Amino acid sequence: MDTPFPDAPAIAGNAALAARDLRHVWHPCTQMHDHESIPMVPIVRGEGAWLIDADGRRYLDGVSSWWTNIFGHANPRLAAALADQAQRLEHVIFAGFTHEPAIALAEELVRVTPPGLERVFYADNGSAAVEVALKMSFHYWLNRGRGEKTRFIALTGSYHGETLGALSVSDVALYRKTYAPLLLTPILAPSPDAYEGEPGETPAQVAARRLEELRAQLERHAHETCAVIVEPLVQCAGGMRMHHPDYLSGLRRLCDEFDVHFIADEIAVGFGRTGTLFACEQASVAPDFMCLSKGLTGGTLPLSAVLTTEAVYAAFYAEYNAGKAFLHSHSYTGNPLACRVALETLAIFRDEPVLERNRVLAAHLAQRLAPLRDHPHVADVRQTGMIAAVELVADKRTRTPWPATERRGMRVYLHGLEHRALLRPLGNVVYFMPPYVVSTDDIDHLVTVAIAGIERAVA
Ligand SMILES: Cc1ncc(COP(=O)(O)O)c(C=O)c1O
Repeated sequence: MDTPFPDAPAIAGNAALAARDLRHVWHPCTQMHDHESIPMVPIVRGEGAWLIDADGRRYLDGVSSWWTNIFGHANPRLAAALADQAQRLEHVIFAGFTHEPAIALAEELVRVTPPGLERVFYADNGSAAVEVALKMSFHYWLNRGRGEKTRFIALTGSYHGETLGALSVSDVALYRKTYAPLLLTPILAPSPDAYEGEPGETPAQVAARRLEELRAQLERHAHETCAVIVEPLVQCAGGMRMHHPDYLSGLRRLCDEFDVHFIADEIAVGFGRTGTLFACEQASVAPDFMCLSKGLTGGTLPLSAVLTTEAVYAAFYAEYNAGKAFLHSHSYTGNPLACRVALETLAIFRDEPVLERNRVLAAHLAQRLAPLRDHPHVADVRQTGMIAAVELVADKRTRTPWPATERRGMRVYLHGLEHRALLRPLGNVVYFMPPYVVSTDDIDHLVTVAIAGIERAVA
């Protein structure tokens, strides 16, 4: 077979590729030293929910490759759209010039997102979308003569990306702690995370209590606050912590009352992940800014979008010398290939009963995970749509977590690799976020491997 890599050895199995990788490549979210003992897995092909390595071993992608590949790998519709667009226009400067894929995608995004979101600003990854939303919110207030609003309220346990602005409004110590001296200081409001509720408290009661606490913070800080930023329904990187939709409707009311923006970061939860196309729908709310990425292109190309209201747009719309224009530009803004693939992603949602199918798959996943509730080292099994999570603890009664240094989740990961599954626990949380193209048999496989991995991890 022809190879696009002319200098590559004729036979490149896992060992050869891994050795070449480790000679020059520096991977994200990785202590590279780990690879002295943990295998680097070179993937050569994808087929639906499965990944195939250079030795021909198959892995069920239980995490949709960092939550992006909602329709699996090598999806024929997305591949065909990409190939077609590549023959026409791969890229064009997006200032002063435009193109049909970006225009049509903006029209479609406005159509499918909650009412009131009318304006679409493109960027090229999730963190960049968060940067755009933060800057746009700040700049809106500045243009309205409220330059004293310079701060953001974020929730404890939140994750919004790892560029400096996005990391500033994130509260996962693993990512934030080292870089804290470089960051803005957010106002942290307690997360409505149902797992952290008082004994006997329902998720709705936790949400109500947390809203009261947020109200108290807004009473103190609204005058200096641009926006509250949240991950609607599920705080993903923070451990798949879930909350009641009432929190979002209450948040909308508080933001209106206190004159601050509501930024919904749907980068991980958007595009059907929580059971509705967007998580905000479950609370019937429209935010002032909605950040989208990941599933937007089904994992084919990096792209993000920030949707906002006509009112926000109007605050920037002025004669040039008024100096009110929004300034945030990336070279690849509105890339035609990415926009065209995103349009195809939305077309799949339109043409196929994706959400209906997901309901069946989610119910099956719930049923298969239910027995874990009785496990002596499982404190919680929770699920929102196509996200399910199992919280491992050292002591079930006191909910004492295993120390992070024991890396129990890593043991589940390694067990998965040995048994044809890509499971990538977040610390002590084993989670499932599979592509929507999994079969019920695939789910059975994933859960069987996870349970055996959990037994090994807690032994
Ligand atoms: C909720 C949320 N926001 C933002 C991001 C950052 O996106 P990216 O990794 O594309 O920068 C992530 C990534 O996991 C995320 O989960």
